[in-house]
Amino acid sequence: MDKQKKPLIVANWKLHGGESFSLRWLTAFKNQGPLLSSAEVVICPPFTDLASLFMAFQDTSLKLGAQNLSAYDEGAYTGEVSGAFLREWGVEYVIVGHSERREHFFESNEMVAEKIQAAFRQDLKPIVCVGETLALREAGKTMDFIKNQLKIALTGLGLGLAENLVIAYEPLWAIGTGKNATPEQAEEVLKEIRDYLKIFLDAPTALKIRLLYGGSVKTSNAALLLAQNHVEGLLVGGASLDPKAFYEILNA
Ligand code: PGA
Repeated sequence: MDKQKKPLIVANWKLHGGESFSLRWLTAFKNQGPLLSSAEVVICPPFTDLASLFMAFQDTSLKLGAQNLSAYDEGAYTGEVSGAFLREWGVEYVIVGHSERREHFFESNEMVAEKIQAAFRQDLKPIVCVGETLALREAGKTMDFIKNQLKIALTGLGLGLAENLVIAYEPLWAIGTGKNATPEQAEEVLKEIRDYLKIFLDAPTALKIRLLYGGSVKTSNAALLLAQNHVEGLLVGGASLDPKAFYEILNA
């Protein structure tokens, strides 16, 4: 990874948590000991756990992220949560376009683009997820697919905003399957993403954007993944629910 940047390690708890779980998790996490890494650490719990974790994080260096946000700022949109609400809970980052949202909630690349804009309107840093299915990989279409995801998602973003993006490469065949991409596979795709960003935006902006890998990250593979040039952080799902495993990943 680029030694100029702090690694960014993001925990995505998905639909796991609840206030009592969150507070127990935090106590157990703190009991692991001091953090030995310089990483920036972001926890993305369900919306309903944000307020209590915001208070509980006051004496820690942990930051808060959300797993989703509304494309709208306000209005008659039942069930939505706006970026402004997230700011009030101390949220700094927001995951946008996770493959589970694309698959189960039919979020299109255009909706992802709107959510990125909504995040930036509230000074939230979007963590934009991209990645291919196994069928696309086997057909040799990985980069065509990801470039199209990025092209639509990033259209209309000014360079000043784009430099605050985080892009997570999460191959769908690696999410929750226990089968991570090899460090070389992650590096290969992230390098191509960086090259594409250089052309689509410009080189200085592309170099400022932080690139993460996600998909079956665990204690045993975190260090090798982070040792790659273009892997500047990790998006951790399942393993982040276990405070001990997550602590070990951070110290990897
Ligand atoms: P996983 O999930 O680590 O459980 O594979 C990663 C993610 O979906 O962000």
